[in-house]
Amino acid sequence: MKPASSLQKRLGLGLTLGMTLLWLGATVGAWVVVQHELNEVFDSALEETAQRILPLAVLEIGNRDEPRQARHIAPLKVRKEYLTYLVRGAKGEILMQSHDADPSIFNPLPVEGFTTTSRYRLYGASALREGVFIEMAEPLAHRREAAQEALFALLLPILALIPISLLGTWLFVHVSLRSVRAYRRAIETRGVGDLSPIKVDRLPAEIDPLAEAVNHLMERLRKALEAERSFTANSAHELRTPLAATLAHIQRLRREAPEGPLQVRAAKIETSLQALTRLSEKLMQLAKAEGGGLLSEAPQDLVPVLAHVVDECNHAAGQRVHVVLPAARSVLSAIDPDAFAILVRNLIENAMKHGAPDRPIEVSLSSQALLRVVNAGPVVPEPILRRLTERFVRGESGAQGSGLGLAIALTIAQGVNATIALVSPATGKQDGFEVIVQFVLGR
Ligand SMILES: Nc1ncnc2c1ncn2[C@@H]1O[C@H](COP(=O)(O)OP(=O)(O)OP(=O)(O)O)[C@@H](O)[C@H]1O
Ligand SMILES: [Mg+2]
Repeated sequence: MKPASSLQKRLGLGLTLGMTLLWLGATVGAWVVVQHELNEVFDSALEETAQRILPLAVLEIGNRDEPRQARHIAPLKVRKEYLTYLVRGAKGEILMQSHDADPSIFNPLPVEGFTTTSRYRLYGASALREGVFIEMAEPLAHRREAAQEALFALLLPILALIPISLLGTWLFVHVSLRSVRAYRRAIETRGVGDLSPIKVDRLPAEIDPLAEAVNHLMERLRKALEAERSFTANSAHELRTPLAATLAHIQRLRREAPEGPLQVRAAKIETSLQALTRLSEKLMQLAKAEGGGLLSEAPQDLVPVLAHVVDECNHAAGQRVHVVLPAARSVLSAIDPDAFAILVRNLIENAMKHGAPDRPIEVSLSSQALLRVVNAGPVVPEPILRRLTERFVRGESGAQGSGLGLAIALTIAQGVNATIALVSPATGKQDGFEVIVQFVLGR
C-alpha cells in the first residue's frame, strides 16, 4: 500500500506552485506590455530629438562659408552618446555629424521615417524640400537593457514570495487541521475496549460527518459486543445454580449406589458436571475480561492482591507456590484488582495443572510491575506455544481444561495495555514454562 501523503504538504506545495505559475504568467504579460510601451517612448524621443536638431542644423549649414564641408559637433562633455546623428545631403554627402556618430551604421542613402537594422533603431527626417536630411541612431542594446531591467524588477518578488507562500500555507493548514489532529490523538490514546463516542470540537465540515459515522459504528459495535457479553455472563450465571444442584444430587447418588457399574457411571457424570462448572466459571471470567472496567481510575497496589491469590492457591494445593515480592512493598498500576486476581489465578492454576506436580512454582513481581509465573515441566514447542493464547486452544497437557485460561489472561492484559509473553523453556532453565506480564506502572 502506498504511504498516505500529508494534506499539509500537498496543499503547501500545490498552492505555492500554482501561485508561482500565475505570477510568472502575469509577469510575462506585463513584460510584453512594458516592452511595447518602452519602444513607443524611445521612438517618440528619437523623433522629437531629430525634429529639434534639424532646424538648428539647417541654420548652421546655411551660415557656413563652405556649406558643403562636413563638420563634427563636439559635445559639451566628452562621454559616450546614446543617440548619434548624421546630417546629409540628398546624395548622401555628410554635412554634419555628432561626436560619436559612425556613418557605416546608417543607410547608404538617407531614408525618412523609422527603420531598424540588426543593432540600431534609425529615424530620418528632411528639410529644405528634401535637400538636407537628419538621421538619428539609437543602439538597440540600450532598449534591451531597459526591458531586461523591467523584467528583473517584475521577477524579483517571486524569489521572496515562494518561501513566504510555502511557510504561510504550511502554517495556515497546520492551524486549520488542529482539530483533526486532536481527533487522531483521541483515537490513538484510547484503550482497546473503549468504544465510547469520540468528541472533538469544531471539526472541519469535511471530516465531521466521518467522525459522526465512526461514532455511530462504535455505538453499534458496543451494543453488539455488550449483548454478546451479557448473554455469555448471564447464561454462565444462570447455569451455576442448576449445575451445583445437579452435582450435589449426583454426589449423593454415587454415595448411595451399590458398588458396581452404576457407581462408575455416576462418577463419570460427576466429572463431566465439574468440567461444565469450570467451563461456565471460565466463560464468566472471559465475559468480564472483555467488558470495560478493566482499568481502575486510581492506580492500585498489586502486591496485596498477588499475596492474597498466592495464599489461596497454596491453601488449595499444599504450599507449592513460592512468591517473591518487591522490596518496595508496593507496586502501583491502573488495573482493576478483580481483573488482576483473575489473571494471576489463571496463570498459577495453569502452572499447578500443567507443570511438573512435584516441583515448586515461582511467582514474582518486580518493582517495575513485571509479573513472572514459572513452573517446571516438559518444554512446549514453539509452534504450539504461539497459539496457546487463542480461545479453546490447548497444548499437549494431559490435565483437564477448556483452553480458555490463557485467552482470559491475554484479554485482560490487552485491556490494561500490558504485554504478555509465553516462554518455554523458562528463562535460564533447560525445561519448564514461564509467563511474563509487564504492567504499566501507575504514578
Ligand atoms: N504453566 C504451564 N505449563 C505448561 N503448559 C501450559 C502452562 N500453561 C498453559 N499451558 C498449556 O497451554 C494450554 C492452554 O492453557 P489455557 O489456560 O488457555 O487452557 P487450559 O488450562 O487447558 O484450560 P482452562 O484454563 O480453560 O481450564 C494448556 O492446555 C497447556 O497445554
Ligand atoms: Mg488454564
